[in-house]
Order: sequence, then structure tokens, then C-alpha cells
Amino acid sequence: MEMHVDNFLRRLYIVMLFVVCLFTTAVLLYRNGSYYVLPETERPYHQKYEQLKPSGIESHAFGIFGSVLIISGVALYSTRKRIRRFSDVGRIKNFLEVHIFLCLFGPTLILFHTTFKFGGPGWRELLEHVGGGVERYRGTISVRSNPERNHRQ
Ligand code: HEM
Repeated sequence: MEMHVDNFLRRLYIVMLFVVCLFTTAVLLYRNGSYYVLPETERPYHQKYEQLKPSGIESHAFGIFGSVLIISGVALYSTRKRIRRFSDVGRIKNFLEVHIFLCLFGPTLILFHTTFKFGGPGWRELLEHVGGGVERYRGTISVRSNPERNHRQ
């Protein structure tokens, strides 16, 4: 029974993390969407141009906050995984899920910082890592639920 409650709470917590991410994205698109859809040449005439250009107060804040989330996501997971002193702090699985959340939400905010001028350096590597990360995360789950595949670990 306690196990079911634990599982339920864990799932609830993961869903909550993703709801936060989706909700923030939806609010930002709703608030600033009219700016992002404009061609670059017309953006300077938008009433929110000064705050929404990448160096403007709002978009710059998205960039800084997004970077902080990514750095925290990597640092937390790596520290838990690699530093022996922290090896009994919580479960590594939970740290990985927080890593995935922070490192998805962070780049999302950075997209808002770039005002969707997508395609600069770094994006390709990030997408490759995310693709590989999803595969690997799914692999970890299926190995755990199918003991016969444990020889792969
Ligand atoms: C800005 C985005 C991201 C950055 C910079 C990043 C960076 C990293 C780094 C440096 C590691 C190695 C940690 C270590 O072994 O010490 C790692 C591991 C990993 N990441 Fe990410 N990550 C990002 C996003 C994601 C996303 C979105 C996913 C999943 C969809 C993901 C899934 C994973 C997985 C499965 C591992 C391997 C876990 C392991 O084998 O221990 N990452 N990431």
C-alpha cells in the first residue's frame, strides 16, 4: 500500500514538473506571441520591442534563468552520480528526472530569449543529446522492468 502511495506521489511530482514547463510556455506564447510571429524586419515597430528583443529586460532574463536551470540540472545530477560522498543522497533515478526536467525547461526559456531565431551553434548538439537521452532513459526503464535484459547493464 505504502509502495502504491510512493509511486503515485512520484508520478504526481513528475507530472507537476512538466505542467509547470508547459504552463509557462503557454503563458509566454499567449503574452508575447504577436511579437514572435513577426518577421525580423518588422519587430522594431512592435510596442514591446524594447523589452522583448534578445537584449531587452524580459528576454534577457529568460536567457539568464534558462542558463541557471541548465547549469543546476547538470551539476545536481553529475554531483550525485560522480561524487562518492553524495552517493546515498536520494535515488539517482529521481536526480535524472530532475535533470531531464531542468534541462528541457532551461533550453525552452533560452528559445524565448533568442525570440525563436532558432538554428545558432549548440542547438544541433543539444537536440542530439536529447534524442540520445530519451533513448537511454527508455532503455533504463525497460531493463529495470525486464530482468532478462539485465545482462546489458
Ligand atoms: C541543456 C540540456 C542538457 C544538458 C546540457 C545535459 C547534459 C548532460 C550531461 C553533462 C550528462 C552527463 C552527466 C554525468 O554523467 O556526469 C547528461 C546525462 C544524461 N542526460 Fe542530459 N543534458 C541535457 C538535457 C537532457 C534531456 C532533455 C534529457 C532527456 C530527454 C537528458 C537525458 C540524459 C540522460 C539519460 C543522461 C545519462 C544518464 C547516465 O547515464 O548517467 N538530458 N546530460
